[in-house]
Amino acid sequence: MTKIGIIGIGMLGNAVGLHLLKSGFDLTVYNRTKEKTNELKNNGAKVVDSPKKVAENSELIIIVVKDADGVKEVSFGKNGIIEGKHEGLTVADMSTINPVESKNISKKFLEHKIIKLDIPVMGGPNVAITGELVLMASGDKKTFNRFRNVFEKIANKIFFLEGEGTAHLVKLAMNLQITMLALALSEGITLVRSANVDPKIFLDILNSTYFKTGMSENKAYKMIQEEFDATFTLANLKKDISTITDTAKSFGIKLPMIKKAEEIYKEAVKKGFGDIDYTGILAYIKKNNSQHNK
Ligand SMILES: NC(=O)c1ccc[n+]([C@@H]2O[C@H](COP(=O)([O-])OP(=O)(O)OC[C@H]3O[C@@H](n4cnc5c(N)ncnc54)[C@H](OP(=O)(O)O)[C@@H]3O)[C@@H](O)[C@H]2O)c1
Repeated sequence: MTKIGIIGIGMLGNAVGLHLLKSGFDLTVYNRTKEKTNELKNNGAKVVDSPKKVAENSELIIIVVKDADGVKEVSFGKNGIIEGKHEGLTVADMSTINPVESKNISKKFLEHKIIKLDIPVMGGPNVAITGELVLMASGDKKTFNRFRNVFEKIANKIFFLEGEGTAHLVKLAMNLQITMLALALSEGITLVRSANVDPKIFLDILNSTYFKTGMSENKAYKMIQEEFDATFTLANLKKDISTITDTAKSFGIKLPMIKKAEEIYKEAVKKGFGDIDYTGILAYIKKNNSQHNK
């Protein structure tokens, strides 16, 4: 069995790790905040004190940290991955990051003779725990195929995309959809509520039409109950929205809707809504309206 390392035991890294342990893999993990590794340790993972030690113990390292700065820190910083490099070591980055940064990071790894794959995913911890993520991959295909058995455990749908960084670019286009859906549902719910119409009726009608989505059929019913326990935090979606606007800027294109969404999510984080689920943008819109109604 492949010896796997995971760096970044947040919500997603923890769930992916638990599933890999259950699938029989040998797993070594590191997280900047050590306490978050306890569940994996109790399930058989080896917990180490640095990304360097993860590298020494692994053939394949999966990075699942917040952003590109985090990826660079665990890769090239003090006691980083490159300090534990050895023949055949491969890195796969599952974090959602800027495709331009991703290309630069791959290039820097190559200078150390390490191949880095891009493996961003769709789906959160709730599906990662059963290996049902949707995985987009780019990078060296031969190396990807070498570890295909691991990726097939993590995800039940895999899309290999040609071109360095392409998987991260498509992942950003996916999170653009998530952002718009969360906002559209939130504004629809707020509109019907303002006229005392039960938002459940609104959802039931929406879900009887061509315009229904997975979000309107599932999470939206939690939204109207004000259940915003995070599977993906509002702060992390704001981080991705800013990555989308940065990427659009570097590609010289204008995406007006996501630019507006960035303002809304930025303000919501500023007002203290960052730690709840990204669908909690509904609660932010509600609070804004209650202030305006005073
Ligand atoms: N949750 C989802 O549904 C989902 C789905 C697809 C993709 N993603 C992406 O996957 C990544 C992780 O998401 P998550 O939901 O697991 O987030 P999370 O729970 O907020 O965890 C973030 C992780 O990144 C680590 N980290 C942040 N900055 C770091 C740095 N400078 N150096 C080292 N470690 C750093 C954190 O360490 P500490 O614990 O020490 O803070 C933590 O382990 C993000 O890029 C996210 O966009 C998430």
